[in-house]
Amino acid sequence: MKWLTIPALSLALLAAGPAMMAEERRDAPAPDGLRPGGTLSQELPAPPLAGQPRHAGREVLNYPEQPPVIPHGIRDYQVDLRTNRCLECHSRSAAVEAGAPMVSISHFRDRHQQVLAAVSPDRYFCTQCHVPQTDAGPIVGNTFLTVDEVLREMLERERGEP
Ligand code: HEC
Ligand code: HEC
Repeated sequence: MKWLTIPALSLALLAAGPAMMAEERRDAPAPDGLRPGGTLSQELPAPPLAGQPRHAGREVLNYPEQPPVIPHGIRDYQVDLRTNRCLECHSRSAAVEAGAPMVSISHFRDRHQQVLAAVSPDRYFCTQCHVPQTDAGPIVGNTFLTVDEVLREMLERERGEP
């Protein structure tokens, strides 16, 4: 009987193999990237939305060229071909009355550094670069240091401090 069992078993395995492999592949863990956990065949609840934007006033920039984060909510602020809600407060002519900082002068230059009379079309869709600051945790870790921290570390290393 033994001589029969082994081929029979391998036959069974051969038949079941592809099906098992397909199942396994479908259920391979998703890459632990922006959406960790879960597989293709699992239906997990959507992660909760990030908290409301913090209304904590303007934030300190981490480096001089950083687009400042938006210190206020922007829900339902429309920006399209016809209207730009942001410019109703941040344009040159509206900023003072709205008590809002005027868009940066860099926003009046096109990509050839030509100075324009109005906000350049490359800067029209504000939320391409500016986003409200929320209490969302970082999706991926990062080890960014501000230039002040880098300089302090360098000085400490030179002085031989830990
Ligand atoms: C109703 C007027 C109003 C509208 C509309 C508005 N803002 Fe503001 N915004 C302000 C005010 C006022 C401040 C300053 C807040 C403060 O000093 O705490 C500000 C601050 C900012 C800042 C911070 C600037 C800095 O240097 O820190 C950014 C960026 C910004 N807004 C972007 C936007 C964008 C993008 C939109 C459109 C989606 C928008 N705002 C719509 C009034 C407005
Ligand atoms: C292509 C990216 C980009 C777009 C689009 C953009 N910004 Fe900016 N913004 C920046 C950067 C970078 C800075 C900071 C450096 C600078 O001043 O250019 C800035 C600075 C600002 C500031 C701070 C000005 C100051 O003097 O403190 C305000 C306010 C602002 N932007 C509003 C807006 C609004 C409103 C729009 C849409 C009409 C907009 N930005 C579109 C990149 C962008």
